[in-house]
Amino acid sequence: MFTDVPPSYDFVNRVLTWRFDVIWRKKAASESLKNSPSKILDLCTGTGDLALQIRKKTESGAKVFALDYSKPMLKLAITKANKKKFDDITFIHADVANIPFPDSHFDSVGIAFAFRNLTFNNPDHDIFLKEIYRIIKPGGRFVIVETSQPKNKLLRSLFHFYMKHITSPLGGFLSGNRGAYRYLAHSAINYWNDQEATDYLKSYGFSQVTTKMILGGISAIYVAIK
Ligand SMILES: C[S@@+](CC[C@H](N)C(=O)[O-])C[C@H]1O[C@@H](n2cnc3c(N)ncnc32)[C@H](O)[C@@H]1O
Repeated sequence: MFTDVPPSYDFVNRVLTWRFDVIWRKKAASESLKNSPSKILDLCTGTGDLALQIRKKTESGAKVFALDYSKPMLKLAITKANKKKFDDITFIHADVANIPFPDSHFDSVGIAFAFRNLTFNNPDHDIFLKEIYRIIKPGGRFVIVETSQPKNKLLRSLFHFYMKHITSPLGGFLSGNRGAYRYLAHSAINYWNDQEATDYLKSYGFSQVTTKMILGGISAIYVAIK
């Protein structure tokens, strides 16, 4: 799926979210930097947008790493980083199931719109979560920006309608990859609400989990502390 999507991925994101995705990643980048990390990782970086935001905001000289298992996505991310002269970001081609770093290596780990991919009906979710927990320092942060479920029933129905009748067909049409955007709509409609996401993170050992709901809960930023 993530081998076919790249050429149009950023453009389709901007259109489908009315550019809100850019603002949401900026907020997540700020949250990821709140503990003044010296080493920070963007997991499932895709075309690199969260890593680039983090790099733009780092003043403390934090070393930024970005990991993904899709080579075409990484290629775009590297091109974008080079254009912005952020050639000090380290891009890593790897699977979250096997993150090539020692235990407790990162002060902060961020993930944008990919936690759902790792956890929604994914038989490997347990491996992913144990691996993520392993590489974060005790006291370190795991910051997730992801779709959630609005608490307001009307807003939730509108969100699901938008996903099913706009995101899925329009994303499929613009990208030429109908399957990817059908999956996006289906997984977002059926994904966890904030309480379910919090309970899940706590079940893997994260102590405090705080949530910031965005646009009434269409998306959320979770900050989980190891
Ligand atoms: C929906 S995209 C999100 C990309 C980016 N974080 C963003 O904000 O746009 C999901 C990304 O997760 C990557 N991905 C999914 N499962 C992965 C895994 N097990 N290991 C590494 N990357 C993975 C995909 O290759 C894809 O680039």
